[in-house]
This record gives sequence, C-alpha cells and structure tokens, in this order.
Amino acid sequence: MAIIAQLSDIHLAAGRDGEVDDASGPVRALRAAVSSLLSLPARPDAVVLTGDLADGGLPAEYARLHALLSPLPMAVYPMAGNHDDRDALRAAFNDEPAVRESGIEPQAPLQYAVDVAGVRLVCCDTTVEGRPHGHMGEERLAWLDATLSNAPGMPTIVATHHPPFPIGIRFIDDMRFIDPTGFTAVLAQHPQVVRVISGHVHRAAVGSLGGTVGTTCPSTYRQLFLDLTRPGRAAVTGEPAGFAVHLVTTEGAATTHFIPTGNYRPLMDVE
Ligand SMILES: [Fe+2]
Repeated sequence: MAIIAQLSDIHLAAGRDGEVDDASGPVRALRAAVSSLLSLPARPDAVVLTGDLADGGLPAEYARLHALLSPLPMAVYPMAGNHDDRDALRAAFNDEPAVRESGIEPQAPLQYAVDVAGVRLVCCDTTVEGRPHGHMGEERLAWLDATLSNAPGMPTIVATHHPPFPIGIRFIDDMRFIDPTGFTAVLAQHPQVVRVISGHVHRAAVGSLGGTVGTTCPSTYRQLFLDLTRPGRAAVTGEPAGFAVHLVTTEGAATTHFIPTGNYRPLMDVE
C-alpha cells in the first residue's frame, strides 16, 4: 500500500527585507505540520505539496521552504498554485528529477508523473499566469491523457491546485477551475484514477466528478470559514490547520484521512 501525505497552501511569505522570518505564522505552522507528519507511526512514502507554497512567488521563499521541508526523509513533490511562480519553484526543487525535467522550456507547466510504492501520482498544473483561477487548456489536457495512457494498469492519484468541482464558498468558487469538463472527460477515459486531490480551498471537502472522488486539503497555515452566504469575501477561521494522508492499495482501493496539526499521542489502548 502506498501512503501519500499532502501538504497544501503553505503561503510562506518574505517580509519587507526579502527574508522569511522564522517567527512568522506560516513558518511555525509548517514546522508543526512536518513534525506531526513525522510522528505518524506509519511513515508516508512521499509528500505532495498542492500549491500556494509561497505567498509572493519569490526565490527566497522557495529556498526557505525547501530548507524547512528538509527533515522529511521521503520524496517531496511540489506543485504550483495561483500564488506561485513556477520557474522559481522549479529552480528551488530541482534536486527532484521529475521537477527538473518538467521545465526544459521556461514557464513550461509544472506537470509530471512519479511512481510511489506501486501507485502513480500525476501532478497537473492548473495555474493561469497572473490570474487566481485555474484552467487546463488543450495542451495540458493532451499531456494528462497521454500520461494516463502510459500506465493504464496502475492505480493513480491525479493532483491539481484548483479543485475541479464547486466548493460553495463564493470567494473560492469565484477563482475556481474554469470549465473542468475537458478534465473530467479525460479522467472518464482512465478508470485507474482512484482519487483527485486538490488544494486552494484551505479546508477539507469531498466532491464527486465523473467516476471518481475528489478531495481538498486543509492549509498547513490558515483555514477558511464555511460561510456560503457572502459574495466575493471570505473569512479566515481558527479551525485547526492540518494535512491529508491518502492510502492507496495496489488493487486501487483509496482512503483519505484528514489530520489536524498537533502533538497528538495515543491516550490509552482500547481493547
Ligand atoms: Fe490558491
């Protein structure tokens, strides 16, 4: 069974001096998330970062991010969100071959596929230069279709920053994945896709699309309040930060857990 952890919407931010302050909220939150992840009795095989990793898309932010993730002994696969600069992100994580090889052309989409303990992880790029919403045009969809066609027998997780289903919080739906019908049509051709995992929403949600299930991930930093009434505005809430852990068997059974960040220990054994 593959265990794939998902950290999302880290929003590491440099200050006016161009440096990322160690005492800043996103840094402390990321350290806590990494510590929580490492305290799990079953260590994940890989970690995927589903975008909005840096708040300003600055090289200094990605350098700091890379350093803060260095306690993780497993492979870490970064993806771009609407706050990210994909070339700066790619440059900081070029020790990962799949990341490095995705960017032979400048500003090429940050999209690649990797194998994790017998399960395939396909990282898509839904970002649109200079805009907050998501979209996958014909070229990116053709890449996804070809990539999925390469390994039809392998259970597969497809990852996106923007979720391809509506969330209900208008602030998020106003910067949604525009016209995901092409995306869902590609997935419909590839029944080995057992889960679509996304970020962007800053809270856990589950949706259905075509023949599969989509999930969104809490932010390691700030959570959005579940307010379905306010047009164009959203509120940050004090709900616990967290991350997701996806379990996928080689037969294709998929289970997603959402874990609040914190120093939780078993309290007592139950028989
Ligand atoms: Fe986002």
